[in-house]
Amino acid sequence: MKIISVVGARPNFMKVAPIYRAFEQLKMKNEKLNNDPSTSPGMMDTTNYKPPAIEHLICHTGQHYDAKMSDVFFQQLGLPKPDFYLGVGGGSHAEQTAKIMMGFEKVLLDERPDLVIVVGDVNSTIACSLTAKKLHIKVAHVEAGLRSFDRDMPEEINRILTDTISDYLFVTEKSGLANLKHEGIEESKIFFVGNCMIDSLINFLPFTERSDILNQLNIKANNYVLVTMHRPSNVDDEKRLIGLTDLINSLSLKRCVVFPIHPRTRKNLEKFKLIEKLNNNIILTEPIAYIDFLTLIRNSELILTDSGGIQEESTYLGVQCITLRKSTERPSTVDEGTNQLVGEDFEIAKTAANEVLNGFRKEGKIPDLWDGKSAERIVDILVNN
Ligand code: UD1
Repeated sequence: MKIISVVGARPNFMKVAPIYRAFEQLKMKNEKLNNDPSTSPGMMDTTNYKPPAIEHLICHTGQHYDAKMSDVFFQQLGLPKPDFYLGVGGGSHAEQTAKIMMGFEKVLLDERPDLVIVVGDVNSTIACSLTAKKLHIKVAHVEAGLRSFDRDMPEEINRILTDTISDYLFVTEKSGLANLKHEGIEESKIFFVGNCMIDSLINFLPFTERSDILNQLNIKANNYVLVTMHRPSNVDDEKRLIGLTDLINSLSLKRCVVFPIHPRTRKNLEKFKLIEKLNNNIILTEPIAYIDFLTLIRNSELILTDSGGIQEESTYLGVQCITLRKSTERPSTVDEGTNQLVGEDFEIAKTAANEVLNGFRKEGKIPDLWDGKSAERIVDILVNN
């Protein structure tokens, strides 16, 4: 059984890491079983049983390529050097998607895997699933069924198209089940398994105890606001970016603000000459590595973001989060978790943020099956189906 998992952009790495680990564990178990069948638990006749040989390979498309957006995540998450690196880099959507498809087709023709696993909603996700399906190779989509119902978001198009052609749809939260059912996807393909990104969080949380990032930034736990922004709808337009700069400046009068800047956001802040308008109490940093970033999330008084993953991580950790978007594809973080969706109006965001800084807390709970075992469930389903 040959399987290729695809990673491309930063949020993919922490979703594939637990899947990689689950395959490694299974391989070890199977090797043991092959060497000594009597160790097989609960098997009636073990003499003729040979567990399948599993080869799990990783393909990195190179959609994200900076050391701080990619390499450091591989190191920290314990991922091996990818077996294939397509090196596509940036470009327009069509250019990037086409380059990934052409590079990945060669890999598939050489390797002929039985299955391709794609995660999330980035351009690499749709590009690789489409390439695989055209070669009649099965596709599993991890994080299927999420919908923002905003088709202006490139990710929404990637989600819908990937789900439509996938053979296994692994769902993170209940809204995903309803969405896929509504779209007429066969129920036998859909599996509610929980959240692989939370698998990584649970696995690496103990490492945050050793992180020195708060000292390095000279900030105190529960006494700063963490900001991340990178959606085209928030950072590509000059007027919106001015609004965002004003909002962050106003929050920095009350608390220290930590703002790790995504490459897209940095380019635009520089282009519109806004970076110099951010005031002193704002700590601007390069993109931050995984363990340090988890440490920052865990200890922040408030997070202001437009990221998908951070809405989930803050919900798991019970940290107050304000999402500057008009919709979320992760409604469980609002319905059950600590996330508040405030839309695109910066004044509303400011009011909500000030309420939190004045002591308001939205109570939350952890959504079902966000228990650190999602990747094990996925591997179990794939191997036994
Ligand atoms: C992509 C995903 C988005 C995800 C985000 C996480 C799509 C459509 N979007 O958006 O869903 O939330 O990743 O970060 O797939 N760049 C660098 N260095 C890098 C990576 C990117 O300089 O390592 C530059 C690119 O050249 C480009 C810009 O940043 O100019 C944006 O990169 P791109 O891959 O197009 O999309 P993201 O905005 O990162």
